[in-house]
Amino acid sequence: MQRIVILNPKGGSGKTTISTNLASYFATQGDRPVLIDNDPQGSSSRWLKKRKPHQAFIHGIAAFERNSSMTRAWQMRIPLEAVHVIVDTPAAIPPQQMPEITRDADAIIVPVLPSDIDIHAFSKCIADLLLIAKVRRDENRIGVVANRVRRSTIVYQSLMRFLDTLRIPVITTLRDSQNYVRAAELGVGLYEMKNHLVLQDLEDWKPLLKWLNAKAPTWRPIVNENPENAA
Ligand SMILES: Nc1ncnc2c1ncn2[C@@H]1O[C@H](COP(=O)(O)OP(=O)(O)OP(=O)(O)O)[C@@H](O)[C@H]1O
Ligand SMILES: [Mg+2]
Repeated sequence: MQRIVILNPKGGSGKTTISTNLASYFATQGDRPVLIDNDPQGSSSRWLKKRKPHQAFIHGIAAFERNSSMTRAWQMRIPLEAVHVIVDTPAAIPPQQMPEITRDADAIIVPVLPSDIDIHAFSKCIADLLLIAKVRRDENRIGVVANRVRRSTIVYQSLMRFLDTLRIPVITTLRDSQNYVRAAELGVGLYEMKNHLVLQDLEDWKPLLKWLNAKAPTWRPIVNENPENAA
C-alpha cells in the first residue's frame, strides 16, 4: 500500500484539488483507491458524493466525522486490498500534529501557490516537516507542487528561485486552469474529462505520477483511521 499525504496548513493551496485528481487518476487505472478526508470542511467527501455510480470507484473515508458506533469504526477501515491511500488534510493544522499525520506517509505532497503570503507560510510548513515531524530530506518523501502557476509572472520566478534554495524537490508545476474548477464541480478528475480539453493539464501531472510510481509501496497491517472510534 502506498500512503500519499497532501499537506500544507495554508488554506486554498490546492490540497483537495490534488487529492481528488489523484484519487480519480488511480480509480481510472482500476485500482479502487482510498480517499481519506481529514478536513472538517469535508471538501473531498463532498466531491466524492457528486460521483455517479457508473464512475470509477473510489473508497471514501470521512475521518473528520466523530461517531462512536461500531458501524462507524467499520467505515473507517482501509480495505485490505487498497493499493493507494490518499489523505487530504485541513488548513491550519498545528505543527504538533505533523508527526502523526506524516508518520506512515510514503509521499508527502506540499502544494504551494506563487504569492508572497503563500511562500511565507510554505517555508514555515517545510521547516515544521523537517524539524518537528522529523522527515529527513534524504528519505525523499517530501515533494513540492507549485500550483496555479502563470509562468510569465515575476512571483512565479521568485517562487522557483526560492524552491531551488530549499533542497526539496519540486515535482511539478500545475498551471492555473479552469479545468480544475470544473472537475471539482462535477465530481470528476482531469483523467475523466474530455481529453482534448485537458491535454495541457495532463502533461503537468505526468512528473507527479512518475514520482509516485517510482516509490515502492510499503506493506502495512490493516488500520483504523480514527482510533477514538474503535469499538
Ligand atoms: N491549478 C488550479 N487552477 C485553477 N484553480 C485551482 C487550481 N488549484 C486549485 N484551484 C481552485 O482553488 C480553490 C482552492 O483549492 P483547494 O480547495 O484544492 O485548496 P485546499 O488547499 O484544499 O484548501 P483548504 O485549505 O481550504 O482545504 C478551489 O476553488 C480550486 O478549484
Ligand atoms: Mg481542502
